[in-house]
Amino acid sequence: MAQAAKAIGTAAAAERFGILERPDLAFTPAVARETAPLYERVKHFIPEIEWPAYAPYVHAINRLKKERNAVILAHNYQTPDVFHCVADIRGNSLQLARDATRVDAEVIIQCGVHFMAETSKLLNPEKTVLIPDGRAGCSLSESITGADVRALKARYPGVPVVTYVNTSADVKAETDICCTSANAVDVVESLESDTVLCIPDEYLALNVAKKTNKKILTWAGHCEVHERFTADELTAYREADPEIEIVAHPECHPNVLAVSDYSGSTSGMIDYVKTRRPKKVLLVTECSMASNIEQEAKGVEFIKPCNLCPHMKRITLPKILDSLLFMTEEVTVDPAIAARARLAVERMVNLRK
Ligand code: 13P
Ligand code: SF4
Repeated sequence: MAQAAKAIGTAAAAERFGILERPDLAFTPAVARETAPLYERVKHFIPEIEWPAYAPYVHAINRLKKERNAVILAHNYQTPDVFHCVADIRGNSLQLARDATRVDAEVIIQCGVHFMAETSKLLNPEKTVLIPDGRAGCSLSESITGADVRALKARYPGVPVVTYVNTSADVKAETDICCTSANAVDVVESLESDTVLCIPDEYLALNVAKKTNKKILTWAGHCEVHERFTADELTAYREADPEIEIVAHPECHPNVLAVSDYSGSTSGMIDYVKTRRPKKVLLVTECSMASNIEQEAKGVEFIKPCNLCPHMKRITLPKILDSLLFMTEEVTVDPAIAARARLAVERMVNLRK
């Protein structure tokens, strides 16, 4: 994956911080005792017989992250072992990067995909940002390059460019302002122009277009996880059980949102479930998210059409441990590109104040 490889330099961080010795990964009585409270958070997901394979990694990671002065960020789509047992900060892609600016850590371990690690680096330029597997990409981010955006700007001179945060720093650098799925409509509305380029997610753009009078131009990028959901599939669920509430991510096709009760970013979806407490809910998104919140939403039954993001699933406990031991893989952004990309992110962040 060319985009990710370009921005990863593994040797520098190892040289600066040194390499640590691999810890003993035995499931000792001490490890069992110290990890027991964490097991309580994931016992709905990990059978007891399998915990001895997880616990030594959880124990070692939690010890080593203190030694490294590192903070672990986990996106809502990480598996429950990562999300509940080793993460310090959890949330949607932008929340993670912003919350990381408020902690006093030298090192960020990004448990998510590559564009999220880049966003963390943009907002935390003085910190060392590591991703446990640099191949963790994103079909949306990879659908467009900086050169593509320059060509769009030449074709539509004067039309402002709103770019989804699910893009590389190269693309953000060509952009007027970023948006997330939570604020895309507000960002578009904040611009004076009657026509706006909203890229690269075609479905997010179509969903925004339904909520604004502005003319929206877009790009044919799609999320490979969310594009698989269909309105027919969801209607079949609802017909089988009319009690189900359907909550969808705006990366889904507009026909999917049309048969849903609510749509919002991953954090918006979580808030909906936690505050409304529907009896039964179908989260139309990556399926680890339901596994992550079901412990905190007692009494809610989750219906899980299991679409997994293969990129998010590249991040595992053994790879997180290796990140801490060997300081890999460091995510860097060319300073000239970073300065322009940061402006686009900051314009969005300042809009929310
Ligand atoms: P959120 O910003 O809503 O967390 O979404 C990120 C993502 O990758 C959705 O597929
Ligand atoms: Fe990208 Fe979709 Fe995976 Fe999110 S779920 S990281 S948008 S491929």
